Amino acid sequence: MENIALVVGATGITGSNLAQELVTNGWTTYGLARNPNSNISGLIPVKADLLDEDNLKVALENISPTHIFFTTWMRNETEEENIKVNSALVRNLLNVLSPKKSVQHVALVTGLKHYLGPFEAYAKSGSLPETPLREEQPRLEYPNFYYAQEDAVYEASERDSFTWSIHRPHTVIGYAVGNLMNMGTTLAIYASICKETGSKFIFPGSSAQWNGLSDVTDARILAKQLIWASTTEGAKNQAFNITNGDIFRWKWLWEKIADHFQIEFEGFDNNIRPLEKELQNDQELWENISEKYHLKENNLSKIASAWHTDLDLGRPIEVMTDMANSRKLGFTSYQSTLDSFKDLFRKLKEEKIIP
Ligand SMILES: NC(=O)c1ccc[n+]([C@@H]2O[C@H](COP(=O)([O-])OP(=O)(O)OC[C@H]3O[C@@H](n4cnc5c(N)ncnc54)[C@H](OP(=O)(O)O)[C@@H]3O)[C@@H](O)[C@H]2O)c1
Repeated sequence: MENIALVVGATGITGSNLAQELVTNGWTTYGLARNPNSNISGLIPVKADLLDEDNLKVALENISPTHIFFTTWMRNETEEENIKVNSALVRNLLNVLSPKKSVQHVALVTGLKHYLGPFEAYAKSGSLPETPLREEQPRLEYPNFYYAQEDAVYEASERDSFTWSIHRPHTVIGYAVGNLMNMGTTLAIYASICKETGSKFIFPGSSAQWNGLSDVTDARILAKQLIWASTTEGAKNQAFNITNGDIFRWKWLWEKIADHFQIEFEGFDNNIRPLEKELQNDQELWENISEKYHLKENNLSKIASAWHTDLDLGRPIEVMTDMANSRKLGFTSYQSTLDSFKDLFRKLKEEKIIP
């Protein structure tokens, strides 16, 4: 039977890189979002709002996907609201697809907040987990929208007899414009501003992040693991961490990024110096830079997510991720982290997002 993929959240950082990989691998691929327009040739757009079941029914009327890749979330004020809204996104979609009986596998992307806690209690002292983070670590006591999304998948899987996999990336590095969290692009924007103004590229995070070991997840390796788990018999009904497969220290990577942009940098200096504060008055400056270099997006808040970069780089512990589960089952892909950043910076320049 032909594999038919539905990528849910197909224009996001995870979804768009996955959609590209699926199309390249010859899958019939549908990409769902509220605004599903993309440059991926061969991707079939599906315009729908996951919060509106009636709208979803109409949009999916003639589509019977075999494989669902769930790569979306919505940011809300409180975790209680996050739980309500983000579990509804999963539940609504699977409810609408249920009568078709076409779905064989559902792959859900969550993340390391599974181990570190929700935004409201994120990596706070008193609740710090043991690192490296391992797949078998139990759920935390805090309510968490990732757990609610997982539970929605498990319930529908019982009802509809499909298999599932859960994928937990660390910070995702990859190309996407206008998405909610994108550390690589945020750092590229900040570095471009430093270059234009001649100011120093200041590390915004904590001592533990500057000095400790870390890892990240290239959106392209996440895509590979999602497809692997969805098509590998032994990988069904399990949760997998996913990172590039190398480790680094930010004090090493920060200098490499500064070198790439040919700017001077300043490392951790006994204080956290949040990037959100650093960029808060730079909208006009970015408009001027955009005009000068004919860039595509002059709205800084659409391309830089400093709040998220601050959250990740400000953590009071080093954070790295164990990949045992998928490694043992044969997923051995590797991605160089320096290449993840450099490939992204090249693409951002090519696409005229940065000078
Ligand atoms: N980004 C990271 O660094 C990172 C790291 C670790 C874990 N994660 C996790 O990975 C998962 C996927 O996140 P992401 O960062 O890839 O997301 P993202 O880049 O913000 O993309 C979200 C996608 O979902 C679509 N969408 C949002 N609301 C929708 C709705 N109501 N109906 C239909 N489509 C909707 C968006 O397009 P429209 O706005 O056009 O609808 C977009 O295509 C999340 O659970 C996130 O927490 C992300």
